[in-house]
Order: sequence, then C-alpha cells, then structure tokens
Amino acid sequence: MFEGMDEAQLTGLRRVYEEACGRGLTLNMSRGVPGVDQLALSEGLLAAVKDSAACVTDGLDARSYGQLEGLPEARKLMGDILDVTPDEVILGGVSSLNLMYDMMARAMSHGVTQGSEPWGRQGTVKFICPAPGYDRHFALCRYFGLEMLPVPMRADGPDMDAVAALVRDPAVKGMWCVPKYSNPTGTVYSDETVRRVAGLTPAAPDFRVFWDNAYAVHDLYDEVKLLSVARAARAAGHPELVIQFASTAKITFPGGGISAVSAGPETLAAIRASLFFQTICYDKLNQLRHVRFLKDLDGVKAHMRRHAALLRPKFEAVDEILTRELSGLASWTAPRGGYFISLDVVPGTAKRTVELMKRAGVLMTGAGATWPDGRDPEDKNIRIAPTFPPVEELKTAMGLLCVCAKLAAAEV
Ligand SMILES: Cc1ncc(COP(=O)(O)O)c(C=O)c1O
Repeated sequence: MFEGMDEAQLTGLRRVYEEACGRGLTLNMSRGVPGVDQLALSEGLLAAVKDSAACVTDGLDARSYGQLEGLPEARKLMGDILDVTPDEVILGGVSSLNLMYDMMARAMSHGVTQGSEPWGRQGTVKFICPAPGYDRHFALCRYFGLEMLPVPMRADGPDMDAVAALVRDPAVKGMWCVPKYSNPTGTVYSDETVRRVAGLTPAAPDFRVFWDNAYAVHDLYDEVKLLSVARAARAAGHPELVIQFASTAKITFPGGGISAVSAGPETLAAIRASLFFQTICYDKLNQLRHVRFLKDLDGVKAHMRRHAALLRPKFEAVDEILTRELSGLASWTAPRGGYFISLDVVPGTAKRTVELMKRAGVLMTGAGATWPDGRDPEDKNIRIAPTFPPVEELKTAMGLLCVCAKLAAAEV
C-alpha cells in the first residue's frame, strides 16, 4: 500500500473497481483516432470533386495516369504544411507511415541515395529512438531488423547530448523524431533542439533523421511554430540529413487522406527513382479533393481550429481527473496539441494498470508500447488517447484508469 492510503480506502477502491467490472463497459482507447464528430468536419471532402469537368485541373485529368509526384497544387498544400517548397515534396498514398516504410525498405535494399551502400549490406544497423515514442516507428525498426537505441525525451525534445554521442558510431544510421506534439508526450522541440538535430555530424554519411511531422498543424490552443528543420539543416551544410513526413490523416480522414515526403535533392532523386517501379501514380482524385476542400494553409488552419474546439474539452477533462485523483502518485503531460497524453504511474505498475483496465472493459494502448521492443525499463508509462470516445465515456474511462492505477500501486 502506498503512502496516504489506508485499508478502508483500499477496500472502497476495490468495491468501485468490481462495480465497474460488472457494468459491461466496452471502450477502446488504444489508438489515436479522431472522434466521429471530427470526421464529420470533413464531410465536404466527399463531394469536393463532383463530376468529370471538376477532375481536370490545369489541363491535367486527375482521373488518369500521370503526375507521379502528385498534383502540383496538392504538393504546394503539403509543402506549406511542412514549410518547404512544392518541388521539395513528393506525395504518397493515404498513409505517411507507408512512406516511412518505403524509405526504410529503400535504404535497406538500395541505400539512402543512388550509389550509396544499402544499409542491409552493412552489418548491424542501429537507429536512435527517443522514448517514450511512437510504437509504429519502433515496429518498423524491428521489422527491418534494426537495433534500437532509446534516448530520453526531455521537455524540449530528445536528449541531444545523448544523440550527439550515439551518432559517432558509424553503425548508427538514423533517428526518429516527432518534432511537434510528439506521440505520446506532446513535446514540441525547442528551436535549440531543432538546430542541434540539423547540426548533427554523424560518423555515417548515410545517416538520416526521419522527421515525422504528423502533428504539424494540430494545435489545441494558440498556433505553435516549429523552426524549419529543412532550412536549419541547409544552413548547417547538411541538406540531405533530414527526411520529413506528414499526412492529412488527422486533418481529414485517417486512412483516407494524402501523405507527403520531403528531403534533400539527392534523397528525393532516390525516392523518385524507386517510385517509378512502385506505382504509375497515387490517387490524384483524392489529392484534388483535398485541395478543393482545404484550399490552402489558411484553410487548413481554420479547419484545425474546428478540430481543436472538439478536442480541447477532452484533453482538459483528462487533466482535471488526473489532477484530482493522481496528484502526488503519478505524473503526466499537458500537451498543447496533438493526440496523446503520456502518463507515468508508479514504477512497476503500468502493465498491471492496463491489465486491470482491460478486465473492466477498457482497452488502453499496451503498457510498454511506447518503448523500443515494447520494453519500458521502469514499467511506468501509459499512453492516453483521449480523442475518440465522447467526453462522458472518456470521463468514465479516466475515472476507472485512476482507480486501476491506485489499485496497482497498492499492490507493490
Ligand atoms: C507520430 C505519428 N506518425 C504517423 C502516424 C500515422 O500516420 P498515417 O496515417 O499518415 O500513416 C501516426 C498515427 O497515430 C502518428 O502518431
């Protein structure tokens, strides 16, 4: 039992928990998915291209083959989101994760640029993984057999001293970064961190930073401006160092959006070269729908303010409940945007907490998922994904999460 809890309180908690188990809850809070009210905000996308005449733009017919790198106006839109020019952008399909997979597969089989040695022929390949981080990034590393090197996340981004030390090893070929509203901590990289990433001097000439700007425009409050990593890298004399990714998954429809990759000229040339073998073109009708619906960066920002209005009460409800129930026992982040809140419970109790939640009918992201290979060394981190459930259900789930965290803490 932990300090401040007596036998009577523990009995009370157990009763509350057993009652909850008897209620037959079935809630899924395991992934960062927009709520149905958020999806409805993009209803207009479905009808944004109504007839064949609307499919022709600047003499190009979006219904047919061609424009391998994407429609020019869609490249402009995604370039504006990533703060780069349209010619520095190549569009993909519905998923930016797919582009990250492609990048890694290409690096393994053909090298990061044309003529460079494939990673797959260089023996052990290591990748820097700020943790807690995004489980799918770690899953990609695992899939390709990369050794993952966790580095701590700080309030202003990854521990860059640790990163600078690790890149002295030529086997270290890359690093994951989610620079704005990181999954799951909500961290925004400071200007200093962006500059230090851009200024890295890795021993491996084929080292690349995978800059996954999934939450570039996902502010819940005032707009937060990230320093341009592409400009910083160019200024530091490292135009090929960083590869950026983004998508409209959480702007319009996850699984129905458009994605983009941006990189230095040589890396882009390598992407283009392999793209020729991968596809004849991606879905330009969807690109066109996005341009017609969102229009431009100002349109995107206005749209994101509507998302924020729906999401703020959810993030604030989570913070209120955690503050009321877990102050002194746990710590958590209070992000100003993005899709997640990161909760650190009493060390050694995250797995047990999530297990208790599951028994009561609430599915959380697996404990450990936020760490490479699913191994949270302190078994304390839990990712809260508050966006999908309606706010009343979210409050029920959060109340239960606090009960479970306390019960688990009382067991150690
Ligand atoms: C950091 C991050 N990158 C990428 C994705 C997936 O994006 P997409 O749907 O474009 O593949 C997510 C989804 O949760 C994410 O959190």
